[in-house]
Amino acid sequence: MTDWELGKVRLGADGPVVGRQGFGAMAINTGYYGPTDEAAARATLEQALAVGITLFDTADAYGDGANEQFLAPFLAAHRDEVVIATKFGLADRARGIVNDPASIRAAADASLRRLGVDHIDLYYMHRRDVNVPIEETVATMAELVQAGKVRYLGLSEVTADELRLAYAVHPIAAVQSEWSLFSRDIETQVAPAAAELGTALVPYSPLGRGVLTGAVPSADHLESDDVRRSMPRFSEGNDTANHDLLAPLRAIAAARGATLAQIALAWLHAQERVFGLPVVPIPGTRSSARVVENARGALITLTDEELAQLDPLADSVAGNRYADMRFTSAGRE
Ligand SMILES: NC(=O)c1ccc[n+]([C@@H]2O[C@H](COP(=O)([O-])OP(=O)(O)OC[C@H]3O[C@@H](n4cnc5c(N)ncnc54)[C@H](OP(=O)(O)O)[C@@H]3O)[C@@H](O)[C@H]2O)c1
Repeated sequence: MTDWELGKVRLGADGPVVGRQGFGAMAINTGYYGPTDEAAARATLEQALAVGITLFDTADAYGDGANEQFLAPFLAAHRDEVVIATKFGLADRARGIVNDPASIRAAADASLRRLGVDHIDLYYMHRRDVNVPIEETVATMAELVQAGKVRYLGLSEVTADELRLAYAVHPIAAVQSEWSLFSRDIETQVAPAAAELGTALVPYSPLGRGVLTGAVPSADHLESDDVRRSMPRFSEGNDTANHDLLAPLRAIAAARGATLAQIALAWLHAQERVFGLPVVPIPGTRSSARVVENARGALITLTDEELAQLDPLADSVAGNRYADMRFTSAGRE
């Protein structure tokens, strides 16, 4: 229990009600962002729930299913309090993006087994296979809803047009895309389309995969097998250039007695009023203390002047967010 309230919001017109900030579980046991400790990871999940975080995000691709499996005991203990979101479409590394109906059905069954649940609360298409009409993919996802295996549908890294086409087949509760002070391409088309349809935005990598916290001064600080080392923003030169952009964030954090992570998250929470739609960021951390710190960022209301100070940051970011930008919606707009 805390003496403050995170607050709740509904995802989409008829979607689930969740805490205003969610939790990204991807790196808690996979080693993607550094070494992990099982007891610490389990304590972090419990701490998240204790501060009012109820949306927990995973995918079948994370750790080749190990991330979903890791969440199973937590879900068993708290099934009615937690909204579990998982994804299909990127788990088969040999095939790449997989959106065909048979694979989606098999992926849903495999996720249900690994998570140890009888339904997935929010099921996302992780990436769009441009060779499969999105209406067909969503029709298959809608069958899973009708079969009682899935409650609500979501899409990750889709364009505004793809979202509209999908929504015509079945309501979409949430779009999950990268969105942060460093990654703002979805603001031109995707966010306005989501607002128009009543779909929520779930920003992933809301802390710029750690850069926006100030804790990654350069890629030298990352383990040799950290996945960020393969990303352009963390490549030599770009890493330190991006770290140097944090001055306005530092100034606001210092003036507010807050941390950089809290201000970066407060900026995303402010986008709710800028775009007129629910925004539920899903920061990831292996630390119980940081999960509390991050949740408290949702309580900070930035002024218009502070938002204006932070506005130019994204324009100067060095390096694309992925080595292959075909994995983003920005490449298809
Ligand atoms: N749909 C997609 O394609 C997609 C892609 C990527 C991610 N995601 C989802 O989005 C979630 C979050 O994104 P992300 O994990 O990539 O990046 P993120 O949340 O932007 O950043 C996570 C990194 O920030 C650090 N961090 C977190 N809070 C901190 C704090 N208060 N102070 C200092 N450092 C802090 C973490 O390290 P510590 O563990 O040391 O705290 C971790 O290295 C993922 O877990 C996953 O569920 C989805």
